[in-house]
Amino acid sequence: MVTDADQETHDDPYASPSTWREWTRFVDTEPPCLPGTGPWNAEERLDYHSRFVILSTPIMAKISLTLRRLMILNRRHNGTARRGLLISGPPTTGKTTTLQQLGRSFHLADRARHGGLDERLPVVFLSVPPAATPKMLVSELARFLDLPITTSMNQARITDIVCATLHQLGTRLVLVDDVHLLNTRTRNGAETSDQMKHLSERIPATFVYAGVALDASPLLTGVRGTQIAGRFKTVRNPPLPHGSPAQRTAWEGLIQGMDQALRLEAHHKGALVRHAPYLHHRTGGRIGSLSALVREAAIAAILDGTEKITKQLLNDIDLDELAEHTPGTQRRR
Ligand SMILES: Nc1ncnc2c1ncn2[C@@H]1O[C@H](COP(=O)(O)OP(=O)(O)OP(=O)(O)O)[C@@H](O)[C@H]1O
Ligand SMILES: [Mg+2]
Repeated sequence: MVTDADQETHDDPYASPSTWREWTRFVDTEPPCLPGTGPWNAEERLDYHSRFVILSTPIMAKISLTLRRLMILNRRHNGTARRGLLISGPPTTGKTTTLQQLGRSFHLADRARHGGLDERLPVVFLSVPPAATPKMLVSELARFLDLPITTSMNQARITDIVCATLHQLGTRLVLVDDVHLLNTRTRNGAETSDQMKHLSERIPATFVYAGVALDASPLLTGVRGTQIAGRFKTVRNPPLPHGSPAQRTAWEGLIQGMDQALRLEAHHKGALVRHAPYLHHRTGGRIGSLSALVREAAIAAILDGTEKITKQLLNDIDLDELAEHTPGTQRRR
């Protein structure tokens, strides 16, 4: 790991972290906030709403608790692959966000426990590259760690270097996103899955995988898949439901969090909460669509000077294809 503090980075602060430096910066970036106590100008508020807040959802709390138990279970585990966690759900339901927030909390807690030692990297975050091969996967890890890898090094050598480094850095949590891209029915996919199992045997860390519809994916079927299925607990991350009174209360709580986070000059607290059932109808309970709709409405309200979100304004906004064309999710004209 290159630790030259003077090394300049030109990374996009909002991009998904793909190196340890970007990851550490993500961990250290405070949730979006406006400077001071205001008044804020339109540009500052546009910037704020384009990023907006990350709210805690019931599923995030459940996943966090499950992971905490699992990590204690794995603490004294030696030799064979440890038990892990799979986060499975449809697109844009907040899997990556959940994974990153889990990692951030764990990283901060580890830093507090170990007095902020620079040479520790408690969490590693990795996205499976499309059409991954085992060498590509382990090279991604090496790239994350900033390790000097040359093209002449073979997979086994890179794996050795990566494992030794992760040991040295005290890594306890390995987060792997987009694992649905691993098709264990193809040779590359199967070998990459083997590589992941091999890594989880060699690195004393808990692995958390996230991906789209993993229950039905080839990742958990066949000989390889069964090895994963036998060690990983799945937590499903579906769109937020709106059927029972408890589910409606949870949804309203989420909308209330967004309502309170809005910084619009003519916004009355609670105005967005009144539209909670409508917002569910529009988005199908997918947090990605909800966040896009509310953020775009806030931006439109600042740009047109009305400074408040009305049902008409929400209705005038086109959402993503998934939200606009999924049965049951429609605009109410
Ligand atoms: N807890 C949350 N609070 C606020 N906004 C959220 C939350 N979770 C997700 N979002 C918003 O929803 C969008 C989609 O989330 P995310 O990328 O995590 O979903 P995903 O399930 O990983 O999607 P994909 O299947 O496409 O990878 C994000 O851009 C983020 O703005
Ligand atoms: Mg994602």
